[in-house]
Amino acid sequence: MAVSVAVDEPGILMEGPHWDDRSGTLLYVDIHGQHVHRWDPVTKHKDTYDIDCMVGTVVPRESGGAVVAAGTKFAFLDFETRQLTDVATVDQHKPTNRFNDGKCDAAGRFWAGTMGAEPVPTKVERKVGSLYCLHTDGNVTKAFNEVDISNGLAWTSDNSIMYYIDSLLYSVDAFDFDLSTGIPSNRRQVMTFDPTVDGVPDGMCIDTDGKLWVAMFNTGQVLQVDPNTGTQLRSIKFPAPRTTSCCFGGPNLDVMYVTSSRKGYSAEEVQQKPLSGCVFQVTGLGARGTPGLCYNG
Ligand code: BGC
Ligand code: CA
Repeated sequence: MAVSVAVDEPGILMEGPHWDDRSGTLLYVDIHGQHVHRWDPVTKHKDTYDIDCMVGTVVPRESGGAVVAAGTKFAFLDFETRQLTDVATVDQHKPTNRFNDGKCDAAGRFWAGTMGAEPVPTKVERKVGSLYCLHTDGNVTKAFNEVDISNGLAWTSDNSIMYYIDSLLYSVDAFDFDLSTGIPSNRRQVMTFDPTVDGVPDGMCIDTDGKLWVAMFNTGQVLQVDPNTGTQLRSIKFPAPRTTSCCFGGPNLDVMYVTSSRKGYSAEEVQQKPLSGCVFQVTGLGARGTPGLCYNG
């Protein structure tokens, strides 16, 4: 197994890696840099799209371009014209909220959650976020509220379970999931973490064996966990303490891409941890993922 820097251009708060198998590119965001990046690991070419607010997530659209969850809006991004078209606004009563992590389900719905103002990393206005679903017809529904920091999402291969991370609960929660309606129910904790030892659970992905890979913020690691037994299986370490999210990618879906953050570091801390804010790659893991899912609306 080998960990190396994939994209050696550190951003502020890199997040939401998504492998687009149709174009062979990695999409990810710099939330505070207000960018969507699209990087080709073969040519090393990177396209950067400016977003006029903090962008929490990007996923490709089946019909071309992408959909972003940015500020408190869902919006379509046209890769050619670089224009954004607003689709829907959430959290109207809370303009200081912003979208954070998101992902599509197998029916092509786009799920993304919000969080409150965060003056210092993880010190967030409590319980003012929600998890939203942008349906394929453009309708938005709220799945639940009282969220601190809406983060990782993943589904089992049979789509019967949705996994979810609200970071400050220090857990992975599972819901029974109805793919035909997109309604999650029967919430329970399947994995808990000790924040002082393990760090803060952030983004995650699932492998073809149904094991979860959870990026742990503050401890520079991705933990492989078994949601059926609640146990930690493996830890992959990174030369940046604030690891934020992960996905499988590459032509065989066996490379793991991991994003990281330097948000909140002083100039001295940045000097001490210069790779913070880079995107890393892990090869030789012996695990594979499934293709990233697109928004189908
Ligand atoms: C958020 C950050 C937050 C971090 C900690 C990330 O997904 O974007 O703002 O500090 O999670 O859990
Ligand atoms: Ca995240």
